[in-house]
Amino acid sequence: MQDRRVLLIVGGGIAAYKACALIRLLRKSGATVRCVLTAGGAHFVTPMTLAALSEQPVHTSLWDLKDETEMGHIQLSREADLVLVCPATADLLAKMAAGIADDLATTLLLATDKKVLAAPAMNVRMWRHEATRRNVARLRADGVTIIEPAEGEMACGEYGPGRLPEPEAILVEVKKLLSGEEQRLAGKRIVVTAGPTHEPIDPVRVIANRSSGKQGFAIAEALAALGADVILVAGPVALATPPGVGRVDVETARQMSEAVDSALPADAAILVAAVADWRVEAAPSKLKKADGPPQLRWTETEDILGSLSASSRRPKLVVGFAAETDHVIDEARAKRARKGCDWIVANDVSGDVMGGEANEVHLITADGVESWERASKAEVARRLAGKIADALD
Ligand code: CTP
Repeated sequence: MQDRRVLLIVGGGIAAYKACALIRLLRKSGATVRCVLTAGGAHFVTPMTLAALSEQPVHTSLWDLKDETEMGHIQLSREADLVLVCPATADLLAKMAAGIADDLATTLLLATDKKVLAAPAMNVRMWRHEATRRNVARLRADGVTIIEPAEGEMACGEYGPGRLPEPEAILVEVKKLLSGEEQRLAGKRIVVTAGPTHEPIDPVRVIANRSSGKQGFAIAEALAALGADVILVAGPVALATPPGVGRVDVETARQMSEAVDSALPADAAILVAAVADWRVEAAPSKLKKADGPPQLRWTETEDILGSLSASSRRPKLVVGFAAETDHVIDEARAKRARKGCDWIVANDVSGDVMGGEANEVHLITADGVESWERASKAEVARRLAGKIADALD
C-alpha cells in the first residue's frame, strides 16, 4: 500500500464516523488519503476532522474557485489509484448507477478512470428495496466493486443487513483491489470448519475437544485474502471473524454437519474443526451430584469429513486435519484412506500446539508426504491456501 493514493468520498450517513477510523488504517498501511465530503456527509463529520486525519486538504464543493485553480476536479479523480465511497448511501448509489453528476462527489465518480470501491451503509429496508438492488446490480455490471454490508443492529434500532462493515474489512477489500496481486481463488467457494464442538450432557455441562480454532480461522483468512468466497462454520470459540469471511456459528457436531451441508455446493472444503466423536443423550434438566455419577449412553456423532467425501455433492477438493499424539504420519495416512478425503494435514499435538501460535504440520496427499518446518499458524495457513489455489486452478 506504500504510496498508493486513495480518494475517499464520505457520504451522508451515521456510518461516516467509521470513515475516520478507516483513514487512519489506510495511512498506517502506507496509503495517502485525500477526502471528498458530500453535503450530507458534512452533517455527520466535519472537513476539519477529515483534514486532520488525512493531513490533506478536504474537498467539498464543485464550485470552489480556489480548489479548482489548485487542482481541477477531473485531476482529483485521475491522480488517485482507487476511488473509495464510504459510506455509500442509497442516494449516492442511485446517482452513480444513473450517471448523475450534480455535486463534486458524483462528478468525480463519473469522471474517474480508476477502480471504484463502494461500501454501502443504510437502513435494512433501504438496502433490500428493489430500487437499491437494481442500482447495485447495475453498478456491479459497470465494474464497480461493492462490499456486502454487514448484518446487525442499526443506529435506527432495526436489525438486518445494511451496516457498514468494520474498517478492517474495508481495508482488506482496498488492499485486494490495489495489490494487483493475483486473486487466485476469485470465484471459488470454500467451506472451512474450525474450533471444537460442544455436545450437551445436561443444560450446564458439555463434552468438548480442546481446540482454540486459531488454525482454522487463519486458514479462512488466508483463503479470503486470495479472493475466495469463504464460509467459516465455527464451533464455540472466542475469536473475531476474519475480514471478508462469512461466518456461521454452531455448537454441536450435528449443527456443524447441517451448516456444512447448507453451504454446499462448494469448490473445496477444509475441515479443521475438532469435532466431538461422541454425544450422549442430554438430560433435559440439570443432573444433581447427590444422585451419583450419571450413566451416560454414548453414541457416535456424524462424521462430517467421511460423509462429505462420499457424498454426491463432494467438493472437488476435500481436506481433513488429523491431530495425533503417536505415529503421526502413519495414523494420518490411514485416516486419509478411511475418510476418503484428498489431503490430510497432520500435526503432533503432544506439545504446545493446542491454543498456541505455531504449528508443525505434514501434508499427506496421493503423491506422498510433505513435512513443513515449524511456522506460525498464519504462515501455515498462507502456505496451505497457496496449495489449495494450485489444486483448484
Ligand atoms: N471430523 C469430522 N467429523 C467428526 C470427526 C472428525 O468431520 N465427527 C474431521 C475433523 O474435522 C478432521 C478429521 O475429521 O478434519 C479428523 O478428525 P479425527 O477426530 O482425528 O478423526 P477420527 O476419525 O475421529 O479419528 P480418531 O480415532 O483418531 O479420533
